[in-house]
Amino acid sequence: MKVCSGIDEIRNYIKEVNLTDIVLVPTMGALHEGHLSLVRLARSVSSNVCVSIFVNPTQFGPGEDFGAYPRTLKKDLDLLEQEGVALVFTPTPDIMYKNNQTLIQNQTLSSILCGVSRPIHFGGVLTVVAKLFNIIQPCWAVFGEKDYQQLKIIEKMVLDLNFPIKILPGPIIRETSGLAKSSRNSYLTDQQKDQASGIYKTLLLLKEEVAKGNLDQKAIESLFVDKLKKYPLLEVEYVKVLNNNLEEISTIEKGTRVFVAVRVGSTRLIDNLELL
Ligand code: PAF
Repeated sequence: MKVCSGIDEIRNYIKEVNLTDIVLVPTMGALHEGHLSLVRLARSVSSNVCVSIFVNPTQFGPGEDFGAYPRTLKKDLDLLEQEGVALVFTPTPDIMYKNNQTLIQNQTLSSILCGVSRPIHFGGVLTVVAKLFNIIQPCWAVFGEKDYQQLKIIEKMVLDLNFPIKILPGPIIRETSGLAKSSRNSYLTDQQKDQASGIYKTLLLLKEEVAKGNLDQKAIESLFVDKLKKYPLLEVEYVKVLNNNLEEISTIEKGTRVFVAVRVGSTRLIDNLELL
């Protein structure tokens, strides 16, 4: 497994060893089973898997957890080696953003859901992902469905900016408790973690309610707020029922999803589930 930090270094390496059919898995490190499932999905389409590890400063707003975000590079590299990854890109903020004046924005999808409380987040994500696409030039790139809004915004960028890259979505991986795997789960105390498993349990209740015939999205959103009261450490930031393209709907139909952000102390967790 080759590890490169420089942009010219990785480009030259890709050229030298004639690495083609690359599948990219962009990450911010602190790798867990969720990331490893994306790496395995990547390996199922090509043996030339490249993983990037970069805690991207431009996607964190003021007062967010950029400084505290877990950084476990040595352990991450060991895990990736075991997964048979061919190439890892580990740039620094200086390398990625020296004199950078350009920002990529989605004018529509980045202002809903997480974009309400994180107004600069998706601009930072799109800019770094576009840079990674241009540096690595993969044929495919893998993104997890836990960050469903991110996945959709990246798919749209690929279409709008004509990147010749196929986006592969990977399913959400959960703890046995149901809590969606996330690097931010490491911020939680045992008690908070226990209560946070209530998020998925409540999402499943909504799905059951829809299966019983309640197709009113406002009623389903209210039910989430109501049922989550059972977990006093959890505070709902948003709950929204939308179609799988993140559009408003008049009634719940095939492909409708529920999206939630919940605060547990100072940690913000997101999750989503297909309702029908
Ligand atoms: O999902 C993430 O870990 C990040 O947002 C990404 C896609 C690696 C961009 O920094």
